[in-house]
Amino acid sequence: MTDPTCHFSHAITRQPAASAVNGLRAHDIGAPDMARLQADHDAYVVALRATGAQVTVLPPLSGYPDAMFVEDTALCLPQGAVILRPGAPSRLGEAAEMAPTLATHFTDLRRIDGPGYVEGGDILVTGREILVGRSARTDAAGVAELARIVADWGHRLREVETPADILHFKTDCSLLDAETILTTERLAAAGCFEGYRLIHTAEGEEAAANTIRFNDVVLMPGGFPRTAERLDRAGYTLVEINNSECAKLDGGMSCLSLRFNSA
Ligand code: GLY
Repeated sequence: MTDPTCHFSHAITRQPAASAVNGLRAHDIGAPDMARLQADHDAYVVALRATGAQVTVLPPLSGYPDAMFVEDTALCLPQGAVILRPGAPSRLGEAAEMAPTLATHFTDLRRIDGPGYVEGGDILVTGREILVGRSARTDAAGVAELARIVADWGHRLREVETPADILHFKTDCSLLDAETILTTERLAAAGCFEGYRLIHTAEGEEAAANTIRFNDVVLMPGGFPRTAERLDRAGYTLVEINNSECAKLDGGMSCLSLRFNSA
């Protein structure tokens, strides 16, 4: 049976809008090719569905160029969901757009009221705790408000620091099973993963760190053969998805879905 931490009956995704060409990015390396972006998104949804999960594909939101990165809008836990408060001003309204869909799945739906900010890309839920990295998008007030909510549900939240120049905490790490984390060397060096089993991305393949363990498979971006080999040798079943266009918008595997188990 799949590790319960990585078992998901449902996922929510959102189609990329044509306006995604205007999405936020730290460095401009060119506009995404929309046909390729759509094909990659389709492949991602197919891969999630192939594990047996029910996957909702929401329509594009043209007013929010980054809205396909749904992970930043909410945190889904077994006890309920939290509507987050994205720290990028152009993304703040995306959270309210997600609320009606989550309300169809969760009876206990809470929200970060502010004034702080939290984006889901900064949250790693492991088998023993919820790690939240402060970043340019997630601040101390937002983390404190989230900590109060999840404590009410019996979860321990540990605040850590996302290294400067890294967009989100999970840009550089992902959960492979309850006790195992895939991480870049630079994030592991910050010392935030004590007690976990770590697998490091290969040198020069730091962009492979953002994967998702979804039921029995690990979805990872294509084009990182040495990291893929490490994961394969460790016994994980890999599904590689082209991420070249999402990467132009600083997006990756985790950003494209909200995942939860309501079975
Ligand atoms: N383009 C994704 C983000 O910056 O939030």
